[in-house]
Amino acid sequence: MSNINKRGVAIIDFGSQYTQLIARRIREFDVFSEIFSPEDAIENILKNDPKAIILSGGPSSIFKSEAPNFDHNILDLKIPILGICYGLHILIHHAGGLVKSNGVGEYGFADITIKGNSKLFKGIKKSTSVWMSHMDQVLEVPGGWSIEATSSNSIIASIVNKDKNRYATQFHPEVSHTKEGTQLLRNFIFSVSKCASNWSANNLIENQILKIRETVQDDNVLIGVSGGVDSSVVAAIMHKAIGGQCKAVMIDHGLLRKNEGIECETFLRDGLGIDITVYDESEIFLSKLNNVSDPEEKRKIIGNQFIYSFDDIANKAGEFKYLAQGTLYPDVIESGISKGKKAHLIKSHHNVGGLPKNMKFKLIEPLRDLFKDEVRKLGKELGLSPRLVDRHPFPGPGLGVRIVGKINKNRVSILQEADAIYMKILQDQNIYNDIWQAFAVLIPVKTVGVMGDQRTYEYLLALRAVTSIDGMTADWFRMPDDILAKISTEIINNVKGINRVVYDITSKPPGTIEWE
Ligand code: XMP
Repeated sequence: MSNINKRGVAIIDFGSQYTQLIARRIREFDVFSEIFSPEDAIENILKNDPKAIILSGGPSSIFKSEAPNFDHNILDLKIPILGICYGLHILIHHAGGLVKSNGVGEYGFADITIKGNSKLFKGIKKSTSVWMSHMDQVLEVPGGWSIEATSSNSIIASIVNKDKNRYATQFHPEVSHTKEGTQLLRNFIFSVSKCASNWSANNLIENQILKIRETVQDDNVLIGVSGGVDSSVVAAIMHKAIGGQCKAVMIDHGLLRKNEGIECETFLRDGLGIDITVYDESEIFLSKLNNVSDPEEKRKIIGNQFIYSFDDIANKAGEFKYLAQGTLYPDVIESGISKGKKAHLIKSHHNVGGLPKNMKFKLIEPLRDLFKDEVRKLGKELGLSPRLVDRHPFPGPGLGVRIVGKINKNRVSILQEADAIYMKILQDQNIYNDIWQAFAVLIPVKTVGVMGDQRTYEYLLALRAVTSIDGMTADWFRMPDDILAKISTEIINNVKGINRVVYDITSKPPGTIEWE
């Protein structure tokens, strides 16, 4: 079978907030796309024989000393290149044109008029609305290039060099606000670059199965599962590829949602026939967390204990040469491309996949080229239940970061009960899938209430529900008030220990999604 990572698109990330979006848009055409850092060696960028290169936007100005360095030989390759915003500036500057700021930028919507007839604008209306975000602009057009479109502010919106297969837009076609952006990208990918449309869920599964069989041969594979969609998809693919040669293990740290451990175990064992063992490590996790209320300390304790527990279990589990885990493409990008970026530590994230560095295993990561939505597609194709595939993301430290302050068994169980009612109502009301992530947070602060003429003095519960694309930014979900009322009533009537419910209306930023 042909290699489905070939004949796709190489995207060079000059620091745009939209770079991942470019990759996803292209994959929506069933074409493989991968993101590279400007510092990557040209041989690495070309390793999968890309049929097109896209230079992303970026916050820099090509004249500034902090402008990203890259191998300029890329610009002379015989492969079609699309430059977006900062990418356009690179192409034009390299071709001898003049790019400069004249003090007038464009931010937000702009109307453009298309004047040229290049393949890039095939099937696109002559007058359309696009998303701009730039200060620098093209002031002198280099030889061989022609202006394809201008904005109503008289700024060059697109410019091409047909002979050299160089295309550029000042606006962002990858952003949904650019009305015909998808068509423009489609034109570049197929009409200009002749990319292969073979990146489909079906092909991905077949491709992975072959790769796994080739790698594993007769050896055995241990799979770390968490109850979430990523590791369940890994388990399903591994099982399809090598059947009884794989075994799944799950660590129940006592901070899972109500019944999550059992549901996952039942689903993988009874639903898919996978050999799975769940290890109840809750006592040790809870004892280490005893009296700890600082969020960062909690995260570290849970992350470290997870490593100890996993190491111990893996040693006892038998002879395994490989460990399969559900690393996704955004994790790969984060640890590679953004390596040099200086970010302020907001939270130390712990993935249930965060495993000991000095493990004896070789890693198998069948999802490392995929985004979350692609994993969901794959899960559906593999026959995983929609309830599992569409499950909201769940953080590695689990309920540990959803109980504000100190954690104990009683608080965990109060939160599990309340959270389960909340999730059930969202499912029953058919709004679960409209929400990117929803959960309850226990705030062990007591307030006064009255129930059946009796004074109550119990804990407070916050409900959180957000919409988001990738968790980087989020908006609070506008929950219908009759549903909020139902959730509040059912929780207060049924969960002993809670007598007041509030709804969190904080976006991210300035809030984060989790409370700790
Ligand atoms: P925040 O709270 O940072 O969360 O806005 C963004 C997304 O990340 C999830 N999250 C985590 N996921 N390990 C994980 O695997 C973690 O330590 C962790 N902390 C937050 C959070 O649930 C949301 O989806």
